[in-house]
Amino acid sequence: MDNLVIPNHIGIIMDGNGRWAKERGMARTYGHKCAVSTLKDLCIYMADVGVKYCSLYAFSTENFKRDLSEVNYLMDLFMKVFHKEFDFLMEKDVKVLFSGRREPLPEKVLKSMDELVKKTRDNNKLVLNICLNYGFQSEIVDTTKKICKMYKDGNISLEDIDEKFIEKNLYQSLPPLDFVIRTSGELRLSNFMLYQASYAEFYFPKVYFPDFNRNEFDKAIIEYNKRDRRFGGIK
Ligand code: FPP
Repeated sequence: MDNLVIPNHIGIIMDGNGRWAKERGMARTYGHKCAVSTLKDLCIYMADVGVKYCSLYAFSTENFKRDLSEVNYLMDLFMKVFHKEFDFLMEKDVKVLFSGRREPLPEKVLKSMDELVKKTRDNNKLVLNICLNYGFQSEIVDTTKKICKMYKDGNISLEDIDEKFIEKNLYQSLPPLDFVIRTSGELRLSNFMLYQASYAEFYFPKVYFPDFNRNEFDKAIIEYNKRDRRFGGIK
């Protein structure tokens, strides 16, 4: 990884857990379980190589349409992982934020999320923005309502609203995404951080997320370094 530019903010759409498990003759939930190990190692690696921000698509607002048994499994998994398996975050100086609507997440999951945010709030090597019950269309609706309220309460004027102002008032005030990776070969964004990804580079490796290991991450960074980012200008 020497001499390579590391993107400041990486987005990862962790796709393909179900298919990965099915190919092994296992239940879809087994794929989610194995994805946790992949994710942990990836976070450690990202902190080590100097990624500053990473946004993870963990559960979309649309994912509530899945079978209730899978939704319940995922909710339990999130809660357990946030409670017990994210200790490495302290060691690696990783701060966790969450993006998404709280409703209708179960109380026990919300509690584990709040505790994790509190526990990691002073860490500052890598910011991990976990998008859970997240959808960009909901985010822009919620942001619009928030800004309308500020205006109604007389705290801002119309002239205050520009591109940067919107960016700062999304669920989290983070720098724009530089690089978005979606595993499993699907060529879609699926309602993931569209405003933040306006000038991002995209990468769609064919591997399913449980196989997205350090070596796959290195390949992604090598690909990122081949891109010619112009942000709409000319070179
Ligand atoms: C997409 O694969 C994955 C999910 C909806 C869940 C993602 C959850 C994890 C990676 C578990 C760990 C996460 C955290 C934050 C602890 P899919 O089920 O859509 O797979 P498919 O496309 O093959 O059906």
